[in-house]
Amino acid sequence: MARLLIITTLLIMVSCASPKKKEEVFSPDKMLDLSVAKTKRTLKGLTDSNSFLRNIPKGEVAWEMVGVRDWCSGFWPGVLWYSYEYSGDEKLKMEAEKFTDPIKTIAFTPAENHDIGFMVYCSYGNAYRLTGKQEYKDVLLSAADTLATLYNPVVGSILSWPIKREQYAHNTIIDNMMNLELLFWAAKNGGDKRLYDIALSHANVTMNYIVRNDDALYHLGEFNDKTGEFIKGHTHQGYADESMWARGQTWGIYGFALAYRETGKHEFIETSMRLADHFLKRMPEDGIPFWDFDDPEIPNAPKDASAAAIAACGMLELADLIKDKELKEKYVDAAYDFVKILSSDEYFSGDVNQALLLHSTGHYPMNSEIDVPIIYADYYYMEALLRLKKLEANHPELVKNK
Ligand code: GLY
Repeated sequence: MARLLIITTLLIMVSCASPKKKEEVFSPDKMLDLSVAKTKRTLKGLTDSNSFLRNIPKGEVAWEMVGVRDWCSGFWPGVLWYSYEYSGDEKLKMEAEKFTDPIKTIAFTPAENHDIGFMVYCSYGNAYRLTGKQEYKDVLLSAADTLATLYNPVVGSILSWPIKREQYAHNTIIDNMMNLELLFWAAKNGGDKRLYDIALSHANVTMNYIVRNDDALYHLGEFNDKTGEFIKGHTHQGYADESMWARGQTWGIYGFALAYRETGKHEFIETSMRLADHFLKRMPEDGIPFWDFDDPEIPNAPKDASAAAIAACGMLELADLIKDKELKEKYVDAAYDFVKILSSDEYFSGDVNQALLLHSTGHYPMNSEIDVPIIYADYYYMEALLRLKKLEANHPELVKNK
């Protein structure tokens, strides 16, 4: 009896001495609620649907806007379509339609670069997916034809950055892998079947020349435009040619997973997994990549939250495509890790500014957009949350890491 009394007293003392904060369980719905509420607040201050959110400069609270030809123009309407998809709120749908509309000019005017895919697929692609409207489909089909005009059959890949802007005669960048989805989609939705061949060839060239033996990537492959000969790999937006630029690695993870989904070619999913495993192996302890894994300033180098958000989407796509249960769980776990950390006070902006996520890095070598909110981080973060929500509903058996 005395012993029981002592134990009970001790338990009471311990519980009084350390009043534990109840650990909150991560929930995609909760973060989607917060994200949609914030998106609605941001909308209140916007009057011009020809301007698109791009970044929030250091120390400021409001988004800087860009025009329709900026490579990021499609992400804001994309955020609005994701907000509508989650909430079903018709007012958000109207806003999404409003900001999507001006982007159609990209589809019907000569191609400036491969970014057509980001601009049109994130806006019109989501618009068509969620509404099925013919007018959206027409814009997508035209955008795919416009993108295909950049294809060089001798090299077998798209000219990502037209020559006017870059010194390399023919260049193909890793980011361009993401924009093959538009071509694959068009080829099976009434567009020219040649678009499939172009996308397949582009993915092969990227895999053969831009993926390195160390399981990282060059940002850009330089080719002779007349002979197709590979000249050199460059890492334009990274620390050095042979370094590992974080966001480039994630465009590769996600892009090759999509190429596998559309073609069934095993070498693409193997490439995506190689890139993903290497990315995870080199991840710093706090779980969010530095902008470049080889910046000598690490651990004082800036982070790139956008790369973590894109990685989460790419790994969830991978998990969807892989048959093996253990591998599925590995990539689902990794995606949860990224999204949970991005949802913490360190990365989720709360009331700090108008964005959803803090700490992304756009173009460090150009001293541009360093450690700031950038719209594509918000876009892929919302996509990852929606993917996790669907996963929890359809495959609860894979969710071990909530
Ligand atoms: N696509 C350009 C970038 O990732 O910065």
